[in-house]
Amino acid sequence: MIQFLFNQELRSEHALDPNLTVLEYLREHLGKPGTKEGCASGDCGACTVVVAERHTDQDGLERLRYRSLNACLTFVSALHGKQLISVEGLKHQGQLHSVQQAMVDCHGSQCGFCTPGVVMSLFALQKNSDAPDLHKAQEALAGNLCRCTGYRPILAAAEQACCQPPADPFDAAEAQTIARLKAIAPKETGELNSGDKRCLVPLTVADLAELYGSHPEARLLAGGTDLALEVTQFHKTLPVMIYVGNVAEMKRIEHVDAHIEIGAATPLTDCYGALSAEYPDFGELLHRFASLQIRNQGTLGGNIGNASPIGDAPPLLIALGAQIVLRKGDSQRTLALEDYFIDYRITARQESEFIEKIIVPKASPGWAFRAYKLSKRLDDDISAVCAAINLRIEGGVIHEARIAFGGMAAIPKRAQACETLLTGKPWSQALIEQACQALSEDFTPLSDFRASKEYRLLSAQNLLRKYFIELQTPHIETRVTAYV
Ligand code: FES
Ligand code: FES
Repeated sequence: MIQFLFNQELRSEHALDPNLTVLEYLREHLGKPGTKEGCASGDCGACTVVVAERHTDQDGLERLRYRSLNACLTFVSALHGKQLISVEGLKHQGQLHSVQQAMVDCHGSQCGFCTPGVVMSLFALQKNSDAPDLHKAQEALAGNLCRCTGYRPILAAAEQACCQPPADPFDAAEAQTIARLKAIAPKETGELNSGDKRCLVPLTVADLAELYGSHPEARLLAGGTDLALEVTQFHKTLPVMIYVGNVAEMKRIEHVDAHIEIGAATPLTDCYGALSAEYPDFGELLHRFASLQIRNQGTLGGNIGNASPIGDAPPLLIALGAQIVLRKGDSQRTLALEDYFIDYRITARQESEFIEKIIVPKASPGWAFRAYKLSKRLDDDISAVCAAINLRIEGGVIHEARIAFGGMAAIPKRAQACETLLTGKPWSQALIEQACQALSEDFTPLSDFRASKEYRLLSAQNLLRKYFIELQTPHIETRVTAYV
């Protein structure tokens, strides 16, 4: 069984198809059609809902943390122990919530199809930001497409709703909601099943290892932002899933000596602080990784585990020399991330083995790390090319080089010929030109609807030139903001 609050109502579910998304659950099982389906693939934001969870804030107080999610990519099993808030839950005693009222006052809605999703994104923004500004409002809304109103009135609504918002019924009920969530906090592995379809929800890494050992055929479900597409876009059925999002040990971020250890089930939003503090370019890339809804849901381990050639985190992590810890039963092994990817969607992971954590070296003197993402849109888009360049330059000489690209091969891959050419040589424009030529030995990219092979190779070479120019003239700010 799994338990959660739906708005203020306690729901206990057991016999439910685990392939059911929260969007379908709301609309078809609960008869709550306020949440809309636009794309069913995480691109439009019409299905945005908010999930509240208990967490301890920096003052050590237990609070609720509100996060916007795409209901079309979230399976119901991910709600275990949490509060699901849909647009129907905002109105209280006949009064619109302040974010809804702001949308009315600022004329933020025309056809209304995007409006429930926009309202829920604004609600999460209001709840999470002490001092929301235009940048935060744009970030919160980057995953909500509106085809008719235009964003000026919606941003005006964001300003009205989020600057000095009045206390609302959610604030008044916070202590009570925390107590209710504590009362239903999972104490053992949860399960959702229907016929022979099941999703198991373990709480510890040991339980996860044991369950995966006895169900090697299971699909591991983390954020689900990729896995759910198999159901919603390709109409597959996933007979057995194991949801890892409730395994607390896999959601920790720890600083251990010269490394940051990040649990594989840590949402990208939570990775931001630690990674951007060490590597500002990593933080910038996370902003452009995907919409906020996707970053709240998607995990660092999931981005590695699905082994996409265009995943954005792997090239950066490879260039930084990251390692992963793989676990099977009671045994663990540590692998350089670059050795995890073998061929298109083929990895070094063995049966019943899973990524437990990612180990990222902290920044060290002498190294200059930059990351670049090229995509057709600035926000919420997939890379045509993603480059991560990390050189150790001392006394004008390149002593070590780690350069990795996404979108240039069947896997995220180091540019070994280029690295070899650079290593041990004085840093100069002429050397960079030779290194650009070496990139054509390293990569034979493909043409697809994102970019042609010629464009990809030329862009990769130009990104290396851009790196050189930036390091020569460090005031130039042209990093991950570049787009096609
Ligand atoms: Fe478009 Fe979910 S329906 S993001
Ligand atoms: Fe029509 Fe936004 S109001 S899509």
